Amino acid sequence: MNVLELDHLHCAFGKLVVTDDVCLTIGEGERHVIIGPNGAGKTSLINQIGGQLKPAAGRILVSGQDVTGKPPSHISRKGVARTFQRNNLFQNLSVIENLRLALAVAFGNPLDVFSMAARDQALIGRARQLLQLTHLDGEEKCIVRTLSYGGQRQLEIAMALASEPKLLLLDEPTSGMSPAETARMVELIAALPRSLSMLMIEHDMSVVFSIADRITVLHYGKILVTDAPAAIQANERVREIYLGMAH
Ligand SMILES: Nc1ncnc2c1ncn2[C@@H]1O[C@H](COP(=O)(O)OP(=O)(O)OP(=O)(O)O)[C@@H](O)[C@H]1O
Ligand SMILES: [Mg+2]
Repeated sequence: MNVLELDHLHCAFGKLVVTDDVCLTIGEGERHVIIGPNGAGKTSLINQIGGQLKPAAGRILVSGQDVTGKPPSHISRKGVARTFQRNNLFQNLSVIENLRLALAVAFGNPLDVFSMAARDQALIGRARQLLQLTHLDGEEKCIVRTLSYGGQRQLEIAMALASEPKLLLLDEPTSGMSPAETARMVELIAALPRSLSMLMIEHDMSVVFSIADRITVLHYGKILVTDAPAAIQANERVREIYLGMAH
């Protein structure tokens, strides 16, 4: 079954149509990348899937269940997690404190006092696992505002993974990064469990082509084409409107 299905989705800000009859499916374990010029509607699309923005028409199905227009908390419980184009961290807390907050939100606080210690141990264990997965082991006591920019973006991914999602939405995970930070981020994303499906927005073509199983090109809110990377690269229309464009 598809993890995500967008069925004739439509969204507008006044007269500006940002999602125009979008139909898209993401299979289990698929790594799908959305590309398109600035203002094409990429973030707006992810905002609708995450529940931050309500579509005007169409449906969003997560593992076959209709979540159209539902709040972010509901969509998160259905197994969808996300990062934002600008980061969303508690700057004055440490790496591990940020993660423990994300885990507490994902799994709730224990009501039964006797289970607290065991629960705490489990959360610490899971936090350590997430730090490893996102290459942040060794940085757990670091206060977030003193962490490198690349490190902060890695932590965002760790926090998104705290809820054990089946679909991860990433909005430009390498934006503003140095080439070295970008390379580390690509390595990290590529090494995430294959069971996790991903929908990622990305501008850097070398990142796109090293991660994507399939690519969707968005242009003025419309899907121009969805296809395998090689076919996208060979597509004349895509080359015209997007590839090779300075960013
Ligand atoms: N809350 C809003 N109210 C009005 N217009 C908006 C709002 N959010 C976005 N827009 C406009 O909708 C269009 C699509 O924006 P969106 O952020 O989805 O594009 P994007 O493809 O993510 O662009 P970028 O590559 O710059 O991140 C843009 O023209 C933007 O200015
Ligand atoms: Mg955007």
